[in-house]
Amino acid sequence: MNNVFGVYNPVKIHFGRGLIAETGRIAKKYSDSALIATGKNSMQKTGTLDRVTKSLKDAGVKPVVYDKITPNPTIKEIDEAAEIVRKNNIGMIIGLGGGSPLDAAKAIAVAAKDNIPVWNYLKTPADKALPVITIVSTSGTGSEVNRYSVMTNPETGEKPGFGYECMYPKEAVIDPEIMASMPPYVTATTGFDVFVHALEAFTGKAINAFSSAYCMQAFYLLKDNLLKAYNEPDNLDARGNMALASALAGLAIDISGVGIIHALEHPVSGNYPSVAHGAGLAALAVASMKYNLESRKRDFMLIAHHYGIKRAGKSDDEYAASLIEKIKEVLAALKLNITLKYLGVEKDKLAKISKEAFMTMGFAVQNNPAPIDEKEALRLLESSY
Ligand code: NZQ
Ligand code: MN
Repeated sequence: MNNVFGVYNPVKIHFGRGLIAETGRIAKKYSDSALIATGKNSMQKTGTLDRVTKSLKDAGVKPVVYDKITPNPTIKEIDEAAEIVRKNNIGMIIGLGGGSPLDAAKAIAVAAKDNIPVWNYLKTPADKALPVITIVSTSGTGSEVNRYSVMTNPETGEKPGFGYECMYPKEAVIDPEIMASMPPYVTATTGFDVFVHALEAFTGKAINAFSSAYCMQAFYLLKDNLLKAYNEPDNLDARGNMALASALAGLAIDISGVGIIHALEHPVSGNYPSVAHGAGLAALAVASMKYNLESRKRDFMLIAHHYGIKRAGKSDDEYAASLIEKIKEVLAALKLNITLKYLGVEKDKLAKISKEAFMTMGFAVQNNPAPIDEKEALRLLESSY
């Protein structure tokens, strides 16, 4: 546990059923016009987009809808939306949907400030962005409450994350009612993402007293609600608890980062954009957990405890390892006991993926508890194949 650290998170969180109706009142504080960044289908089909635009209009905020954000959003979409914002002099960005539109909203908010491609901000830090409000519809990435944005360069397959202080959303609306429409596969993949955030922040080198508290509460909520939300999609209590777990784990990674599972997953879904982030994590988790077990035995035991696994006479080694067995069971129950091969990854791409993990996700590699080099990362990819 670290004894020297800083903690900062300025996001005002609104949690509760029906709160998307408050969007207009919240947004009005920042501007009279808003670009809504959203995906192509889900928010339209469920009527959520209409409810948000109505709330904005009622409050006197003019909405402009950009509904071309794809899962694993590309720099092309972000630059195109930023251009619309500049041309129309729009004053704020509302991200509506899963992690993809939320990440895109933050990137658009930065890119709209200057007329330069968003990719440049990987190297040149940004210190100004338009105000962002997040309205989250998956419980997953934690993007609703953190400063990170993940974007894909479709020409190279690179999928780095970036996050500057100016990119924190001003306010986050977390309304479990809009999560009930998630189909089982989205519930499963995004829900497993929450577990991996809590796992990697908790076992990572940058863990501290604040992030570990968030992680422990996230594990506790995951234990009772991940499978419940999957098996009972309309159970709003389970949906609400998963939404809380997502936000808590999102705060944890904002403070303490992720590790090798995320470092390897980003180039997987970067090179194969049809792969859901959480599905890539599912394929990589078991091998990576085995790799880290020895260096974080006590942490694994603590997580096993928070995950409700009975100790029942197990030795320390057995108890720590029982977490991995439990996660295998959870993955099977979510129908996510899958491999990279199953996800369509080509074997001859594994070396490229390993290389890119070190190139674009270096901070996550560094944060991994057990030291790892490109060769060992390639072996992890091979055993996840
Ligand atoms: O695209 P639409 O039509 O909106 O449909 C989406 C999409 O097909 C659908 N969906 C979302 N909410 C729904 C719904 N369908 C029905 N009902 C709802 N309520 O689900 C599909 C997946 O959506 P997406 O936003 O892509 O999923 P997710 O929330 O998992 O976000 C993934 C993105 O976030 C990044 C990932 O890399 C990926 O690009 N991440 C962002 C992080 C962050 N900002 O901190 C951390 C994460 O580790 C992650 O890297
Ligand atoms: Mn993730």
